[in-house]
Amino acid sequence: MTHHLLIDTDPGVDDALAILMAHTHPDARIAALTVTAGNVGLHHTLSNALKLCEVAGIDAPVFPGAPLPLVATPEDAAYVHGRDGFGDTGYTPATREAETEHAALAMLRLSRERDGELTFVMLGPLTNLALALSLDPTLPQRVPRLIIMGGAVTGLGNTRIPVEFNTGFDPEAARIVFERWPEFELVDWEATLRHGLPHEKCDRWFATNHPLARFYNAISTNTRAWAAGLRGNTWHSADALAMAQVLEPGGALEVAERAVSVELGGQFARGMTVVDWAGRNETPANARILMRYDQARFEALVQCAVGAG
Ligand code: RIB
Ligand code: CA
Repeated sequence: MTHHLLIDTDPGVDDALAILMAHTHPDARIAALTVTAGNVGLHHTLSNALKLCEVAGIDAPVFPGAPLPLVATPEDAAYVHGRDGFGDTGYTPATREAETEHAALAMLRLSRERDGELTFVMLGPLTNLALALSLDPTLPQRVPRLIIMGGAVTGLGNTRIPVEFNTGFDPEAARIVFERWPEFELVDWEATLRHGLPHEKCDRWFATNHPLARFYNAISTNTRAWAAGLRGNTWHSADALAMAQVLEPGGALEVAERAVSVELGGQFARGMTVVDWAGRNETPANARILMRYDQARFEALVQCAVGAG
């Protein structure tokens, strides 16, 4: 079965790895990239998406999306990904232009043109999808599979204490998506922490002379060095793990089905994912939370993404 993917993304070093995983996978076709602000501003995330397409030979259309969260004040992650979101390598911008259609409108149009065919993969803040859902609440009926990288299901966040970056960047958008999309798959930050990529393997995979390895090594060197100083000998690539779940769901070893919502208030909790682990609210489960994935299978997909497999 071929996965036809609409990937919503804020590239972003780990977004780039996830997109390369999809591009190099024999059972996947990238139908579109919809781009949002997040890790860095939309100017950079859009440029990065176009550059990655040029380097990898991805001919999917790239649609510009939301430059700002719905309500929140944007707080980027340039400290992780570099000021430009791609390791500040000073690359020559791609020659290809982005589409002029807004990402949210492209999501709706493509869902109608390819009704029942597309998997939506959300690798950044959920602003574009929230806008699309607000324009047309019937969208989920035409998209059989939604995978979201976001949240921290027991409060072990990576920005504010209990908050993960994507839901924290635009909590209102996350609340809209979590409440209006009946069932989705969730790959959270804590699962990412449980599936670290050993730095010594990454160093080897990204050091080959393959064009994708050379490009990825250049954009990821700084963030991997930063991560090593912070978290030791494994590197955590959230979007890559989410894409592994997209491409090979058979690699999931444990999944928990629970009701998950997003907190909008609170000095510390705004943007956190709140999981009804004990089923106390009797709210139907909306999320299939990835708890464990086959690590060897994950690492094989990463290797293939940069031509090292
Ligand atoms: O918390 C990790 C997520 O935030 C990833 O998608 C990363 O790219 C950033 O967007
Ligand atoms: Ca991302």
